[in-house]
Amino acid sequence: MTDLHKQSLLSSLGLVHVWSLEKPNTMTKAVNTSLLAFSCLFFVVLSLFLSVAEPQRQSLNGKWRLSNTSGSVCLPAEVPGCVHSALQLQGFIQDPYFRFNDAVYRWIALENWTYTTTFTVSAVLRAKQKVLLIFEGVDTVAFISLNGITIGETDNMFCEYDFSVRDQLKVGDNELRVDFRSPVYYAAERRKAHPYRVPPDCPPDVQRGECHVNFIRKEQSSFSWDWGPSFPTTGLWRGVRLEAFDLLHVVQVSPVPLYNLSSSAWSVQVDLLVDAVQATRSHVTLSVPELESEQSFPLELLSGKTKNSFVLHINASRQVKLWWPRGYGDQSAYSLLIRAHQDGVVFLNTESRVYFRTVELVQEAIVGSPGLSFYFRINGKPIFLKGSNWIPAHAFQDQISSAVLKNLLQSAVDANMNALRVWGGGVYEQDLFYEICDQLGIMVWQDLMFACAMYPTEDQFIHTVREEVLQQVRRLKSHPSVIIWSGNNENEAALATDWFNIPASQKPMYVKDYVTLYVDNIKKLVEEEDQSRPFLVSSPTNGAESEQEGWVAANPYDPHYGDVHFYSYSLDCWDWKTFPRARFASEYGFQSWPSFSTLQPVSRRDDWSYDSSFSAHRQHHEDGNQQMLRQAAIHFNLPNSTDPFKLFTDTLYITQVMQAQCVKTQTEFYRRSRSEIVEGKGHTMGALYWQLNDIWQAPSWSSIEFGGKWKLLHYFAQSFFAAVLPVGFEDDDTMLIYVVSDVLEDLKLRAVVTVYSWSDLNPVCTLRSNLHPVSGGSAVPVFKQLVAALLAGCGRCTRLTCLLMFHLEDEGGIQHGPTNHHYMCSPKDARGLQKANITAMVQEDDSGFSVTLRSSSVAPFVWLDVGNIPGRFTSNGFLMVSANRTVGFHAWRPTSAAELSNALTVTSLMDVYGAG
Ligand SMILES: *[C@@H]1O[C@H](CO)[C@@H](O)[C@H](O)[C@H]1NC(C)=O
Ligand SMILES: *[C@@H]1O[C@H](CO)[C@@H](O)[C@H](O)[C@H]1NC(C)=O
Ligand SMILES: *[C@@H]1O[C@H](CO)[C@@H](O)[C@H](O)[C@H]1NC(C)=O
Ligand SMILES: *[C@@H]1O[C@H](CO)[C@@H](O)[C@H](O)[C@H]1NC(C)=O
Ligand SMILES: *[C@@H]1O[C@H](CO)[C@@H](O)[C@H](O)[C@H]1NC(C)=O
Ligand SMILES: *[C@@H]1O[C@H](CO)[C@@H](O)[C@H](O)[C@H]1NC(C)=O
Ligand SMILES: *[C@@H]1O[C@H](CO)[C@@H](O)[C@H](O)[C@H]1NC(C)=O
Repeated sequence: MTDLHKQSLLSSLGLVHVWSLEKPNTMTKAVNTSLLAFSCLFFVVLSLFLSVAEPQRQSLNGKWRLSNTSGSVCLPAEVPGCVHSALQLQGFIQDPYFRFNDAVYRWIALENWTYTTTFTVSAVLRAKQKVLLIFEGVDTVAFISLNGITIGETDNMFCEYDFSVRDQLKVGDNELRVDFRSPVYYAAERRKAHPYRVPPDCPPDVQRGECHVNFIRKEQSSFSWDWGPSFPTTGLWRGVRLEAFDLLHVVQVSPVPLYNLSSSAWSVQVDLLVDAVQATRSHVTLSVPELESEQSFPLELLSGKTKNSFVLHINASRQVKLWWPRGYGDQSAYSLLIRAHQDGVVFLNTESRVYFRTVELVQEAIVGSPGLSFYFRINGKPIFLKGSNWIPAHAFQDQISSAVLKNLLQSAVDANMNALRVWGGGVYEQDLFYEICDQLGIMVWQDLMFACAMYPTEDQFIHTVREEVLQQVRRLKSHPSVIIWSGNNENEAALATDWFNIPASQKPMYVKDYVTLYVDNIKKLVEEEDQSRPFLVSSPTNGAESEQEGWVAANPYDPHYGDVHFYSYSLDCWDWKTFPRARFASEYGFQSWPSFSTLQPVSRRDDWSYDSSFSAHRQHHEDGNQQMLRQAAIHFNLPNSTDPFKLFTDTLYITQVMQAQCVKTQTEFYRRSRSEIVEGKGHTMGALYWQLNDIWQAPSWSSIEFGGKWKLLHYFAQSFFAAVLPVGFEDDDTMLIYVVSDVLEDLKLRAVVTVYSWSDLNPVCTLRSNLHPVSGGSAVPVFKQLVAALLAGCGRCTRLTCLLMFHLEDEGGIQHGPTNHHYMCSPKDARGLQKANITAMVQEDDSGFSVTLRSSSVAPFVWLDVGNIPGRFTSNGFLMVSANRTVGFHAWRPTSAAELSNALTVTSLMDVYGAG
């Protein structure tokens, strides 16, 4: 069944599934029901027993010991953590991110490592009927032993492991030992044992990475990527704990709301996963008190793990408040209570959160266009996804603090994003990530963790992948932010367009493996476990059309179907005709360098040149450094200072200018294409550029540098993702301005175009279009004029001497959306552009810090930088066409006007030419 068919079937059933969230570590109480018979007579004794019968949790996090094979290294190691972090913290190694240390410390991943801890078990805990030893995350291949007895092994970083250990535990001291194998050697060994090649064998040389990462279920980018270092980690990357109980342990509560279209009624499907000591029959009561909804269900538990599913109907007389994506409404939540009782005694009492929203992925015929639409409808409303792609925020997951996570996600919404794609070469993110997304209204496109490779399908591999997928779907399906599962990153495209030189005769074998893994196993499993959101097999894909073609389409990049990834570094990025008019652009982008303040802590003076071996070493994309310069040189003269240090920082700046302008052009093209079909293509409903964040200090496609500093692109994103946006572009000889509106209400707007000369801060002339109706959620042209007529009508203008600024106004003259601009020529050809003398004054008042700029002339790409003082400006990288401008600064740590003033540098385009 295609997604399309499934969609219409769901609609015809009048059923759209929705979902919700579990609150982790919910309150759970259990009493031993076998004691109940005594309760009337010996209530004093019982209350004593009851307290004994409470389940017990014991954390085994904290200081463990770490050693390598020979025991020649032996030091304390934090759990959760990894070997690299422990070695660094103990001063055994330097900062692994410093200069070439990724290569220097390659040996760490070639070693076997052992984590050990000693912990004390109380008589009370040991007396429980069942004790589980739970590893929330083991990275990756390990043998686990307790008091010298092997209790299990692990081979998947993305699985939680639990072992029943009551009989191996002693009252008093216990020794727990985890013996890790080198992930690099393990992967190589698995490859050797495999009957045929599963490409790619190794990453490109420029990535300086390790081979065969597709043979180990571990963060795929940890063996290196085109934006990241090779640090194949080892360790206990999530918590370790004991759960001891006499009756039961609640493993997971996953509520998923369902909406019945024909009855307009909500219900909540609640999966309750319980580990019980013995078979029990009882009753469970589910309630959402705020919605006056309560129902009881029979509860049947077997000995061991049992999943019970219940459907709680929501009182139809109550108005349910929905969860909305950011910009469309609130992110409302409700409490769901779950209580189980027997003979009047409560033995299970847990609470979870439930959010109500529907999500549909619409793939249906479009009038005037071959192919199928591809867009998301949330709560019945078509929504354009604006945002970026998320990669792991650090090579060492234990070093990602909640503050880092919050700051990155806040930065995403501050740039008017409403969606992020969690990319399939990283990790299924931690709970906090999704909780923040729920709260901020960020929609998450969740890849499963397979990327840019073929994968084996031997039994052991399939087995561990099935467990991984089952656990992750159960863990995440209650989050309203997650709106889609996607099976892998680019593996359909890799196969279809032959990235790995697979002989034609062998292709069917690889297609068969592909279908076995992603369709027969993963898709089936995900859809059994979660009917509340769509599943796509790959990204990019043609979706329903790929299915028609046996899951590997001839051209998965077809703009008439599904989503598209598009990269071109050599074509002129200022020319929107370069870009495919896709239904949905889930990846596109350009590289840039981070700013000097981000590079400085990991480099030395002799590294500070664009041609240094350091600059080459940090670039993991073939020819990347030269590509950036060539793309920049299409429209800008390259920096040419005779001062080598200034030449370096100016070059960093010009790469950021290039990147910002390229991604702006491409994103604005996608946004203005939302309502049009042109030559059979269009109705674009998503723009997620590559990539939001960085894993280390290096050139990459990110808009936020490692450490959180916004690049010029991120400031641009704030404007180009604005809810209401004027977009200007030329089509042949005509200048057009579109209004793009993502707001729900209809508007009536006009474009106001102000023409400036490059040489003068006073405008040359101003043009106004008529008022145009702009219906909610549409993109329409409001201004259209031949370029020649426009310039001639504006007196002294030519393409080389003038530029356009424009904004939108309603009837009352109120501005809607940001002011935008359009260059009529490349800045390198502009006549009359002078070096601007810009002075800055930093002030502090009640609302924070502000910087007031005064400029002597028109200045493109004005860039304020306060070095390593963390924070962000209210806007930056802008075109200054007025003598004065004031911007705010949000500091992320205490600072002062004096400190800011000392650190502040202001650069605009013409500053990067000439000596000094
Ligand atoms: C263990 O670590 C030490 C110290 O870095 C190193 O010299 C030794 O080669 C490592 N490996 C083994 C197998 O001992
Ligand atoms: C690591 O363990 C594997 C498997 O036990 C063994 O073959 C290999 O020699 C060990 N490597 C080192 C460096 O000790
Ligand atoms: C949806 O509601 C209709 C009308 O009340 C009912 O007949 C139908 O069974 C419901 N569907 C489901 C799947 O509950
Ligand atoms: C539904 O809510 C109404 C009042 O809001 C209440 O009287 C009624 O008992 C509720 N029904 C159920 C089944 O809880
Ligand atoms: C720049 O402008 C400031 C004040 O506007 C002035 O004091 C200064 O002399 C100017 N510098 C140059 C190099 O023109
Ligand atoms: C710019 O600011 C200065 C000082 O506050 C003021 O005198 C001047 O009039 C302003 N210029 C414009 C064009 O607003
Ligand atoms: C630097 O480049 C600019 C712009 O191309 C040019 O005008 C200037 O002469 C160059 N200066 C040097 C020192 O090469």
